[in-house]
Amino acid sequence: MPNTVLVGAQWGDEGKGKITDLIASDYDYVVRFQGGNNAGHTVIHGDKKLALHLMPSGVMYENAVPVIGNGVVVDPGVLIKEMAVLEAEGISCKNLRISCDAHVIMPYHKDLDGADEKRLGEHKIGTTKRGIGPCYQDKAARKGIRIQDLMDEKIFRLKVETALAQKNPILKNIYGLHTYTVEEICEEYLPYANILRPYMAETAQMLNQAIRDGKTVLFEGAQGTLLDIDHGTYPYVTSSSCCAGGACTGTGVGPKKIDRVLGIQKAYVTRVGGGPFPTELTYAEDGGEGQDAVDGETLCQVGHEYGVTTGRKRRCGWFDAVIARYAAEVNGLTDVALTKLDVLSAFDTIKVCVAYECDGQTYDYFPMQQSVLFHAKPVYEELPGWKDVDITGCRTFEELPENARAYVEHLEKLAGVPISIIAVGPDRDQTIFRGWDR
Ligand code: IMP
Repeated sequence: MPNTVLVGAQWGDEGKGKITDLIASDYDYVVRFQGGNNAGHTVIHGDKKLALHLMPSGVMYENAVPVIGNGVVVDPGVLIKEMAVLEAEGISCKNLRISCDAHVIMPYHKDLDGADEKRLGEHKIGTTKRGIGPCYQDKAARKGIRIQDLMDEKIFRLKVETALAQKNPILKNIYGLHTYTVEEICEEYLPYANILRPYMAETAQMLNQAIRDGKTVLFEGAQGTLLDIDHGTYPYVTSSSCCAGGACTGTGVGPKKIDRVLGIQKAYVTRVGGGPFPTELTYAEDGGEGQDAVDGETLCQVGHEYGVTTGRKRRCGWFDAVIARYAAEVNGLTDVALTKLDVLSAFDTIKVCVAYECDGQTYDYFPMQQSVLFHAKPVYEELPGWKDVDITGCRTFEELPENARAYVEHLEKLAGVPISIIAVGPDRDQTIFRGWDR
């Protein structure tokens, strides 16, 4: 089983959870490499649905070691609660390993995240307010607090004191918020250290040794390519490296040890938060009109497009082949998993954006300037649908209706990457494997 990086190829929420859950048991290690509890995916355990935010999906399988890599930002209180929920369901977290170099989300990070969004008003990013941006900000400024610092009371106190000397005046004077004492923070965080200590590890060394021993690793991405701090629609992005390259920096495993990069694409596109979205369909409640608003509402309702972490109604739109091509390039995708194909059974015809038009110019590649993306009008191809044919029972590509097969093959051609997994429903078995070597 080759070492595999799994990444979102759109704006997150592509259905990575289902695909990760599906293939995680094939690997010895499942490693989160970026982000934090801004992510959210649902895994099915027996007849229950569990929402995971921070815990790698590998926790669901006894044979897979779940690892939180150095590129992740950890809210210890959230992690401990998640562990308790899993343990209560009979899912053991004993194999979990947390990088000693992962950064810790502090209470002031969460306050600052919310306050800054408020300050930005209509220009806000639409963050999850989990403190992700401010935590990565401190990391880049070399002022962050890491898991290893949390384990050493003396160092932790000192670092908190240093941080508060800067954060308290900002909280109070700029945002009019409450301030913190070192004692207050230590009282909350030091007990976390005692609970998490047994799980702390030098994970880069551990993973490299495991690979030398012939073990396999699944690198589990969160968010998506267009939310990447470097390659996404900046500034409407998250603060980490969600692309495949992040799997190396976020774990300490070199690129030559990665064999395969699986991009997850939804059969249409969704986005939460602000920022450009060329194929967006509007909702009637937001002033949308005509067929576009009907189609937008249909995608949202049939696709159950509500955020796992925030409960927000997601913005929905048709498949965008321009970003699919871009994601294929910046991640070096070797395979694609196409999710939620069954949702498109609700339509007579299905649109696919193949280029953008802006100021008389046509772009069939990702435009250099963000302003183009904001004003881009999608150039659509309209493909015949397979309306009302229930495809959720199909288990081979050949069983799909002809128009569904043609849709998949068309997307494959547009992005230039084989679609080797197709999801036709939320359950594990509602999946078509098509040339994916397990
Ligand atoms: P942050 O990561 O909370 O700072 O949010 C930054 C942007 O990324 C916002 O637009 C969020 O809605 C978006 N975002 C963060 N995590 C996810 C995710 O897991 N799925 C989809 N969007 C996300």
